Amino acid sequence: MRRPLIPRKLAPCLRALPALAGLALLTGCWLDGRQSTFDVKGPVARAQLDLFMVTVYVTAVIFVVVGAVLAYAMIKFRARTAADERAEPPPQGHGNFLVEIGLVSASVLCLVIIAVPTLKNIWFTYEVPDVQRANAYEITATGYQWWFKFEYPAEQIDGVGPLVTGNELVIPAGRPVRVNLRTVDVIHSFWVPKLAGKVDMIPNRANHLWLQADQPGYYYGQCAEFCGDSHAIMRFRVIALGEKEFALWRANQEQPARSVAPATADAERKPRAVFASFTTHPGAALSGSAEFDADPFAAWQEKQRPDPAGENPALAAQGRRLFQEKTCIACHTIRGHEGVGVAGPDLTHVGARTTIAAGTLENTPQRMHDWIADPNHFKPGNKMFNGGYTDPATGRRLIVLNETEIDALVAYLQSLK
Ligand code: CUA
Repeated sequence: MRRPLIPRKLAPCLRALPALAGLALLTGCWLDGRQSTFDVKGPVARAQLDLFMVTVYVTAVIFVVVGAVLAYAMIKFRARTAADERAEPPPQGHGNFLVEIGLVSASVLCLVIIAVPTLKNIWFTYEVPDVQRANAYEITATGYQWWFKFEYPAEQIDGVGPLVTGNELVIPAGRPVRVNLRTVDVIHSFWVPKLAGKVDMIPNRANHLWLQADQPGYYYGQCAEFCGDSHAIMRFRVIALGEKEFALWRANQEQPARSVAPATADAERKPRAVFASFTTHPGAALSGSAEFDADPFAAWQEKQRPDPAGENPALAAQGRRLFQEKTCIACHTIRGHEGVGVAGPDLTHVGARTTIAAGTLENTPQRMHDWIADPNHFKPGNKMFNGGYTDPATGRRLIVLNETEIDALVAYLQSLK
């Protein structure tokens, strides 16, 4: 009796494979996701993808050739009858000189095909190409458990130092950006899948990478090296802006914190004119995640604009007081206001960010309320809760906030555009 080539039980699974692959292609769920390395948006990521595809093609050829020879041998020499099963194996040889030389040469050829573009790319991705070096913009990214600090050495603020932001890296589009990579604690890794990565941020080692976004847009970044409890939600965003809008953004960020306290209402509550040139998106509400996800770049632009009509100056003023009383100032800087701490992200313009908790939550009043109320729920192990709200040694609660106090803090922080 002839045996089936493939065991009967396996056949339906194999038949379903092309259908599953087709379904994945049709739904397109794996090629243009937020962190897809196939949907590249800049020269560095493009070089990395091209190199990846070279490797895929070479290994595909190996797979097909080896698979075909294996299949041929399995079919041609398989035991067909009961007598075959009991037969002695055929005489065993000691190889074939030509076949061996051929296989070694083919392997060397495959390695060369992969190695040449690999070496080329190692140099290309390591440093901004000479012709563009003069045009490169420099930024320093520092990893903390579990968030990112971004410093702009080119933007020095009088008496303060470089401009500092957290978790949202704003860069000029169409221009190479050289990112210095630092860490204050453990090893992290800087990765923006559609633009560039990954390079580790290693203690006592000055690593760097460069990236470039071809077009203005909103890109997703992620720490790519295990760094503790909340590693998987140590995220960040990259927002690439045209040259003019990037200059406007910098001008606004260099301003001290916006004030909506009643005493200064007339002087400082005027909307800042610098963002008037941003496209208006009347429908781009930030309350619904579906809308935000549909066009995060529009949502980001919308977030830059102060909303004096929707603000409660008295509540914001109370929030500003609470920010001192509850010792938030010890860990967060709010330049021009009271905060001076550097253990946590700079919050001078936190109201203008699209995310909080290092890219974990959308920056809406509701989400900010949830975050302040129970940070450990969203980012287990974070220092705001463990060491801020509670004493990690004894578990004793140090800071207690009631609902009204949280609302006031949210009103204050959201006003910081
Ligand atoms: Cu930082 Cu993983």
